[in-house]
Amino acid sequence: MSIDLLLINLDHVGIAVENLNESLATFKELYGVEPIHRETVASQGVEEAMLSVGGSYVQLLQPIDEDGPVARFLQQRGQGMHHLAFAVADIEAALRHLESQGARLVDVEPRIGGQGKRIAFVHPRSFGGTLIELVESP
Ligand code: CO
Repeated sequence: MSIDLLLINLDHVGIAVENLNESLATFKELYGVEPIHRETVASQGVEEAMLSVGGSYVQLLQPIDEDGPVARFLQQRGQGMHHLAFAVADIEAALRHLESQGARLVDVEPRIGGQGKRIAFVHPRSFGGTLIELVESP
């Protein structure tokens, strides 16, 4: 794979929120956008909603239990940006490339995220304290 083709676009920005309904209502009031998708992703301990903004999405994440990663993030840092997600064409190839460059992977192999998409996270220590998610674009 050419490195030029590694990232297709910015798929979404994930934001951790305390109350998904309230946050969706506020987003609609301020920006006039309603969610196109809403789903509980038990494996990640969240209920999530996707808001379509041009070619990308805003993903709001509310924890559904007290010990998932988003719950811990909220306890430590409060509400705010949680991760950036890039669309990739081939998630395995992207992970192997990152591994070869010494990136610290949270997920060495892809797992299934919201909407059944294959995703993987790259540790914040590998880039500016920012958690990066890769999403395989169908
Ligand atoms: Co995400």
